[in-house]
Amino acid sequence: MARATSAAASVDGVSGASAADATTGRHRPRFSRRALLTGTGLGVLGGALAGGGATWAATHPAGDSVDLGTQIPFYGQKHPVGIATPPQRYAMYMTFNLTTSSVKDLQTLLARWSAAASLMQRGDPVGSVEPDSENGLPKDTGEAYGLDPASLTITFGLGPAIFAENRFGLERFRPALLADLPTLPSDNLDPALVGGDLSVQACADDPQVAYHAVRNLARMGRSQVSVHWTQMGFGRASAGTGQETPRNLMGFKDGTRNVSTPEQFDEFVWVNGGDQSWLEGGTYQVVRKIRMNLETWDADRIGDQETIFGRTKAEGAPLTGSKEFDTPDFQMTDENGDRVIDPTAHIALAAYENNGGIRILRRPYNYTDGLNEHAQLDAGLLFLTYQNDPGHFAALQRRLGASDLLNEYISHIGTGVFAVPPSPAEGRYIAQELFES
Ligand code: HEM
Repeated sequence: MARATSAAASVDGVSGASAADATTGRHRPRFSRRALLTGTGLGVLGGALAGGGATWAATHPAGDSVDLGTQIPFYGQKHPVGIATPPQRYAMYMTFNLTTSSVKDLQTLLARWSAAASLMQRGDPVGSVEPDSENGLPKDTGEAYGLDPASLTITFGLGPAIFAENRFGLERFRPALLADLPTLPSDNLDPALVGGDLSVQACADDPQVAYHAVRNLARMGRSQVSVHWTQMGFGRASAGTGQETPRNLMGFKDGTRNVSTPEQFDEFVWVNGGDQSWLEGGTYQVVRKIRMNLETWDADRIGDQETIFGRTKAEGAPLTGSKEFDTPDFQMTDENGDRVIDPTAHIALAAYENNGGIRILRRPYNYTDGLNEHAQLDAGLLFLTYQNDPGHFAALQRRLGASDLLNEYISHIGTGVFAVPPSPAEGRYIAQELFES
């Protein structure tokens, strides 16, 4: 319990960020004193491992495995984590509104969240799961106790309202590019899913690890923030280095022509030479919750579906090619003189060749909310994007929202924009520069 106790101290105050890193190494199951005394702990764990191993091998073909033991450090990275990180399998996303007007509270919250993020990315709890005293209140809720880090990354975003006049006195730190998105064509926004003062994106290869991370950050901040909206995502709909391109819920490969090389990240994603030094090396997050009308989509012919995206379904090849990574030819015509890729197909409107070179990193996840009020599937895409100018997203969506063939099947119901500061150095915390002058 010693590590858990020191962690509890570290997330309690501003100064704790550095102390939190005193321990290293992957999380290991720790047995409760009660379980050790009764001898139940080892038996239960042994049984769970045996059963889990068999199930995993049976359901996951070779090449489709993840190493749940992988740890990604929170501190000391050149850029924020969870963006260039190859997409993990699950995401838990949450936005928060600050309920305090004290800048000191905001500072303390970001410091405690940073310390906690570092611990959880290592696979450690944020404090004691089972306090020594019977009357003690656990610091960590416990559901990730004994689970591996599963490549957890926690990415923090600061919304435009943090820098509003007469709020926290931070208006001089507002990057000129950080503003709410304008109204965009095809917006069908639910006010309950719009904006937020802060955002947290937790991604991991184990959904319970991602859920635990966000839940514990929310719990830790309950005196300073209220939860605004939240979404769990799965089956990351974006490719990372070495990963096979995953599919969205419409069944198409999603992420084929994404930002991928370090040079492209430097050019299109990371802030470099912006107007605020605290954001250098960071980026802007745009989130859209996009509902899919899956019942209608599933009733559509394959020819239509492929025309809508401009790609084949199984291979994911552009209609002008035969392999997934063939470069689309947006000018090619058929024997009737018609474009092979319809000019209003999704990829024709979104491609950088047709958008003055604009590129954004798409890092979305599929989601399901069960059934809607008509007992139909309520599902879609938690569309998370990163770019060094949120105006790039708006420019693309202006074109897509106006004439994309896909619009008949989707609806943008949630939105938000956040500045994402770079990973802090060891001993510092997220956006610390805001509070230093
Ligand atoms: C539910 C909504 C959406 C779905 C299902 C979807 C699906 C897809 C698919 C299947 C592709 C082709 C494969 C690939 O290159 O990744 C694609 C490409 C792309 N999408 Fe989307 N997308 C959606 C929304 C958006 C939005 C809102 C934007 C930006 C505002 C966007 C931007 C792009 C871009 C930039 C490409 C690459 C085009 C290219 O260079 O060929 N998508 N999308």
